[in-house]
Amino acid sequence: MSQTDSAEFIAGYPLKAHNTFGFDVHAQWACRIEREAQLPAAAHDPRIAGLPRLVLGGGSNVVLTRDFAGLVLLVALRGRRVVGEDDEAVYVEAAAGEPWHEFVGWTLSQGLPGLENLALIPGTVGAAPIQNIGAYGLEMCERFAWLRAVELASGESVEFDARACAFGYRDSFFKREGRDRFVITSVTFRLPKAWQPRANYADLARQLAADGYHADGKEPDAQAIFDAVVAVRRAKLPDPLELGNAGSFFKNPVVNADQFEALKSREPDVVSYAQPDGRVKLAAGWLIDRCGWKGRSIGAAAVHERQALVLVNRGGASGADVLALARAIQHDVLERFGVELEAEPVCL
Ligand code: EPU
Repeated sequence: MSQTDSAEFIAGYPLKAHNTFGFDVHAQWACRIEREAQLPAAAHDPRIAGLPRLVLGGGSNVVLTRDFAGLVLLVALRGRRVVGEDDEAVYVEAAAGEPWHEFVGWTLSQGLPGLENLALIPGTVGAAPIQNIGAYGLEMCERFAWLRAVELASGESVEFDARACAFGYRDSFFKREGRDRFVITSVTFRLPKAWQPRANYADLARQLAADGYHADGKEPDAQAIFDAVVAVRRAKLPDPLELGNAGSFFKNPVVNADQFEALKSREPDVVSYAQPDGRVKLAAGWLIDRCGWKGRSIGAAAVHERQALVLVNRGGASGADVLALARAIQHDVLERFGVELEAEPVCL
């Protein structure tokens, strides 16, 4: 092994700055990965034999309830470039440790639209496919080409296409079977040359109208959509640097048509989205809000005042406090609506 491939282990590593809830927990060992070649060495170091591993990018979709007795791999791989094009699309690759929002801004600065609806999502490029990030009418899987990941057991680099990633709503192979078995090292996106604005999502359409688009037939360009998404997110969602949070804490639940009809007859203004398979997705934020949880807290763990789907750390909360709040919310929503809410972030 060359010197450059070796991995430096740090004992008792503080994770406060590596999870966006800001929970004050420690990892038994941590290792910063700056080059892909360091991964096999890090995975097979005798000090961590038999211990669990946790891969952290920006730590924006994880609830750390206690110290982690294992190895945390801090993915800090950087770099982004155009890797090719065909008649229909340009292919852009980014290393897993690139901050997502900066990457989106960079693609626009290169004249390559397509990711603008996903502006300002916290976290890294490598985390984006794990939960198939989505917002304002676009899911990452719609712009995905392929990714590369290192299998920790073998040290081999493997390419995954969209089918192998098994993307679903806030879901993928890497959130399930592949969890902590693979470290995503780079992701390549397919940005269509025939770009079309995606501007129908209610909050986004309202913001664009306020910015002077559509009303007089003026179509927004990708930068206008990017700016509008940033404005909407800033107005509704707390900045993790100011108020610890992990974005939406629950998935929007999907119910079958009969359940939906029964619910709708009791709650005529329930917010819902019909799904292609005949089922109906419900706005979890609305359900939680309707149960009176918006702005309420248990200790320092609270429900955000402007978006009931977001749980926040008002300062000094632990992961256990947030989970206790989450359970109380799940209980009330189940009791009142008969609907189970599933947590969206990974809870450890
Ligand atoms: N609503 C309320 N009260 C609330 C929150 C929401 O009544 O406290 C209602 C809203 O008025 C709206 C509906 O619920 O009619 C949906 O709300 P919103 O548009 O804010 O979106 P969401 O369904 O709550 C999802 C994603 C977000 C994403 C937005 C915009 C999930 C779990 N969440 O939230 O993603 O930014 O749509 O596309 O799908 C994330 O995953 O971390 C995340 C922030």
